[in-house]
Amino acid sequence: MPTAIAAPAGPITGAIPRQTVLQDRYVIAEKLGQGGMGAVYRASDRRLSTINWAIKEMSQSAITGPLERQQAREAFRHEAEMLAALNHPNLPRVTDHFEQDGKAYLVMEYVPGETLHTFLVREGLPQPQQRVFEWFRQLAEVLEYLHSQDSPIIFRDLKPANIMLTPHGQVKLIDFGIARLFKPGQAKDTQAFGTVGYSAPEQYGRGQTDARSDIYSLGVLLHQLLTGYDPTLTPFRLPPASQVSPNVPRPLSDVIAAATDSDPGRRFISMRAFRDALFNAAAGAQSFVPAQSGGAVYARPNSQPYNPSLVQPYDHPGSQPFGASDMPQNPLSLANISRWVGIASVAIMALATLMVGGAAAAGDTGSTLAGFGYVLAFLPLVSGPVGLVIGIVALVSSKTAQTLNGKRSATIGIATGIATLLLCCAIGVMAGSFNNVER
Ligand SMILES: Nc1ncnc2c1ncn2[C@@H]1O[C@H](COP(=O)(O)OP(=O)(O)O)[C@@H](O)[C@H]1O
Ligand SMILES: [Mg+2]
Repeated sequence: MPTAIAAPAGPITGAIPRQTVLQDRYVIAEKLGQGGMGAVYRASDRRLSTINWAIKEMSQSAITGPLERQQAREAFRHEAEMLAALNHPNLPRVTDHFEQDGKAYLVMEYVPGETLHTFLVREGLPQPQQRVFEWFRQLAEVLEYLHSQDSPIIFRDLKPANIMLTPHGQVKLIDFGIARLFKPGQAKDTQAFGTVGYSAPEQYGRGQTDARSDIYSLGVLLHQLLTGYDPTLTPFRLPPASQVSPNVPRPLSDVIAAATDSDPGRRFISMRAFRDALFNAAAGAQSFVPAQSGGAVYARPNSQPYNPSLVQPYDHPGSQPFGASDMPQNPLSLANISRWVGIASVAIMALATLMVGGAAAAGDTGSTLAGFGYVLAFLPLVSGPVGLVIGIVALVSSKTAQTLNGKRSATIGIATGIATLLLCCAIGVMAGSFNNVER
C-alpha cells in the first residue's frame, strides 16, 4: 500500500506527485490533463481496489480575497452537488467532492478511451457521415438531458477536447468547468465564455446564454466533422457545409446553417428540434421543418444511413489532419501571401534570367536586352526573400500548422523564394562571366 504523501498546498495546480493519497482514499496514479480550470488525475481507490477515478483539482489562481475564496468554495460545493445529482449514460458520474490543503477536488467516474480531439488529430477530417450521426445522436441526447433539468444546465464549452470516446463507441461529455446553473430571467450571465470558433456570439457578453448556445456549438462541431472545415479560422462565419464539401447534401447543410445562425432567435428552439430536423434531412427530406413536439420516430443513421455510397471509408487516403480544410484558405493569410509573392518573384526572375541568358548566348550581355534583364531582376531580388521569410513565419505559426492548405502554401512560398534567389545567382554568374570575357 502506498505511503501517504501530503498534497502540495498553494496556488499551483497540476503538481500532485504520483502516489499522493487524498482523503485517505484516492491514490494519484497519473495526470491526465491540465487546462484553464485545473488539472485532472487518474486515481485508484484504497477502498475499492478495482476502481479508477478521475479527480479534478480546481484552479484557484483567479481567486484573491478571503471573501471571494469563500464564495468560490460555496459555488464549487453547489456545482459538485448539482453534478452528483445527474445520471446519464453520456456523462461521467460525479461521486464525491472535497477540499484538502486549501484546494477543491471533484471525483468522477474514470472514462476509458480518448478525447474526440485526440482521435481527430490521429484519424483526420472529415469523418464518415454515419459515424458523425451516431456521435451527434448521443451528444444531442445528453445536452437535451442537461437542458431539461429543473434549473437548466448549459454546457457552454462543447468542442472535441471536451468529448471523450470510449472503446465501445460511447460518447461522454467531460469538463463541467464552466457549466453553470442557468437562471431564467437573469439579464446576463457573466461566467460565460468558451472556445473561439465553437462558442455562440451571445457567449461573448452580448446577451444571455441558454440552450441555444449549446445548439450553436453542436452545429459547429457537426459542420467540422462532416466537412473538415476548421471553425476557429472564421468564428461566427461558417461557410455553408454543402459548399465546403460536396458530400454534404443541401438539406443537411441548411439544418447546420440554422443551428449555427448568429441570431439565437433563428436557431432551433431545442436540442430535440435540432436533432429531429437533422435526421429528417438525413433521411432524404428535401426541406426541413423543425419539429415542435416529440413522439415521431426518425430514421437513425444506424438503421438508415443517409447515403451509404457517400460514406467515406474510415481511413480514406484523402483524410486530412485535424483542422485542415477543403476550403480555399483565407486569401490574406500569411501562407497565402507568401505563396503568391514567391510565385510572382520567381516568374519575374525567370524572365530576367531568360533575357540575360539570351544576351549572354548571343555574346553581348551589355545589350539593351541584358540591361532590361538586370533592371527587371531588382524587384524579385527584394520580393523573393520577403516571400521566403513570410513563408517561414507562416509555417511555424500554429494556425498554419493545423491546415494542410496552409502548410502547402507556405512551403510553395519558401520554395519559390529560394528559387528566385538561385535564379538571381545564375544572372550574377552570367553577368560575371561576361565581365571576364570582356577583360
Ligand atoms: N472523467 C474522465 N475520465 C477520464 N479522463 C478524463 C476525465 N475527465 C477529464 N479527463 C482527461 O483530462 C483532460 C482534461 O480534462 P477537462 O475536464 O477537459 O479539463 P480542462 O479542459 O479544464 O483542462 C481531458 O482531456 C481528458 O483527457
Ligand atoms: Mg477541457
